[in-house]
Amino acid sequence: MSDNDIVIEAWNTVLFEKFLHFKHLLVAGLAGHSDELLSRHLYPRGASVLDVGCGFGDSTLRIAREVGPQGRAVGTDCAANFIAACEQEAQAAGITNASFFCADSQSDDLRGPYDHAFARFGTMFFMMPGAALRNIRRALKPGGVFTQIVWRKREENPWIHEAELCVRGIVPVVSHEDSNQVHCGPGPFSMSGPDMVSGMLKSAGFKGIGFERFDADICIGRDLDEAIAFAMALGPAGEIIRLAAEEGERLKPQVIVALRETLSRYVRADGVWAPSSTWFVTAKNPA
Ligand SMILES: C[S@@+](CC[C@H](N)C(=O)[O-])C[C@H]1O[C@@H](n2cnc3c(N)ncnc32)[C@H](O)[C@@H]1O
Repeated sequence: MSDNDIVIEAWNTVLFEKFLHFKHLLVAGLAGHSDELLSRHLYPRGASVLDVGCGFGDSTLRIAREVGPQGRAVGTDCAANFIAACEQEAQAAGITNASFFCADSQSDDLRGPYDHAFARFGTMFFMMPGAALRNIRRALKPGGVFTQIVWRKREENPWIHEAELCVRGIVPVVSHEDSNQVHCGPGPFSMSGPDMVSGMLKSAGFKGIGFERFDADICIGRDLDEAIAFAMALGPAGEIIRLAAEEGERLKPQVIVALRETLSRYVRADGVWAPSSTWFVTAKNPA
């Protein structure tokens, strides 16, 4: 299995299962960022828009509503299980101008040309981000804009970083190379540096690159127990525990005590809420 096959396998199996379990928190929390962007009506009626690494496809469906019946929203993801979930959601919602297909954004035909492309947290897990960005640009019409939402630096994202710090102090970190388990790829903060990301976009042929910061609190649990379970399953903390295998399992009671103390400061009357921060990154395919 290549490194890339390993990442695709992870998203289609263990990470898909975890995302499904915490879908109620993830979809609402991540949409806090895309709602801000999409409420600015980026996509006119009749436009065609590709949603890269679409996950459960809630952003694709929102774009489909935005572009109306004459437009189309197309979601793509490397994990067949996410695509099956998207198709069910679109059917249940009666949305007929959204479609989905399974593809590796780095190398597969993305079935363009599209007027625009969008990705909410879909690009940080690519093993070959340069190849993916080039492939996405080639799927755009001249003048088309690619808008990505990516996490800013980890220190500005306590919603997952606080748990990571806790777990790092208790569980030995096993690198991807030393583990025989599938893994998520580069990780949520791999696109947090504007210099690096703008360099990659430029090399991929994009022009007019812009970054806008957006901050929002995210609900990580309806109560403290759920926030602890969320932290131990997902994000860098969840990956450290999972890759540590038996040792990770053995140390879970200690981790739970530490997380309870750390996350209790984020408890509010309506759940556990912690700050998060993203870049809205825009880049244009030259006309
Ligand atoms: C953090 S999830 C984000 C999902 C969704 N956009 C959201 O905001 O809820 C990252 C997504 O990228 C997908 N992904 C990872 N590598 C990919 C690749 N090479 N090609 C296409 N999708 C990929 C994963 O399967 C996963 O659904």
